[in-house]
Amino acid sequence: MRRIDSIVELRGVIRAAKQSGKTVGFVPTMGYLHEGHLSLVDAARRDNDLVVVSIFVNPLQFGPNEDLDRYPRDLDRDSSLLEQRGCDVLFAPSVEEMYPRPMETMVEVTDLGRRLCGKTRLTHFRGVATVVSKLFHIVTPDRAYFGRKDGQQVAVIRRMVQDLNFPVEIVDVPTVREPDGLAMSSRNLYLTPEERPHATVLYRALQHAKERILAGERDGRTLANFVGEIVASEPMVKLDYAETVYLDDLKPADVLEGRVMIAVAAYVGKARLIDNLQLIIE
Ligand code: PAJ
Repeated sequence: MRRIDSIVELRGVIRAAKQSGKTVGFVPTMGYLHEGHLSLVDAARRDNDLVVVSIFVNPLQFGPNEDLDRYPRDLDRDSSLLEQRGCDVLFAPSVEEMYPRPMETMVEVTDLGRRLCGKTRLTHFRGVATVVSKLFHIVTPDRAYFGRKDGQQVAVIRRMVQDLNFPVEIVDVPTVREPDGLAMSSRNLYLTPEERPHATVLYRALQHAKERILAGERDGRTLANFVGEIVASEPMVKLDYAETVYLDDLKPADVLEGRVMIAVAAYVGKARLIDNLQLIIE
């Protein structure tokens, strides 16, 4: 595996691979890798000739009171995990390499980026769309891999790719969980041993909702309220939102039909956790 921190050097490696007919699969991350990230690498490895993973803690997507400074980092550990999973190129640029000057140009998916998590994280999705668009221009992947755990992020990126004609296929990968159901996240590190058992309530609530759907419930608002009440009643947990939405535009789904998602976000101590249940209802 090659470890590259320069955009010019990375472009050279990708140009050479493409000239010899290789397809490029790309997995953007912020590092501190866990099995969730690595499942994206596995999927990219299966589908493509050259696998590029980026590790970049993107300042642009953190709000002023968020965890940019304490976001966990361990590039050496990440590097050896990626090597074991068959990654070809690790792209780990510095902030100066990605943002040599303050950004004047931003990519904003206006409506989708303001829904769900966008209501509390006002500039988050603008930061995500901007960095992912820069990374797509740098890596020029055939396919790019994103986790379903961040359901809104996938919707925002898909819309950006359509609106701006990026020649890339977006592949979403199922959420990888701890044995007790908690969705893996670099931010789970912030949970204290006391808080940790309560953090599973997001998953438990979504599973209860799934049972109700299997029993015939089709009212989106009833299901979202049901999930919200379970999460809100858990000790040490503060609900941010629970909503049922359509996956393509993230607008509220009053009735479950087509591709829908019940999305939930909550604070557990210092950690802000999200999870969702995605369904296709015929
Ligand atoms: P990060 O939080 O590091 O996540 C990188 C990718 O891993 C995202 O696509 C995310 O959805 C996926 N992922 C995280 N936890 C997962 C899990 N438990 N199961 C499956 N996939 C999981 O998301 C970002 O970084 C950034 O916003 C980024 C897209 C890199 C832009 O800066």
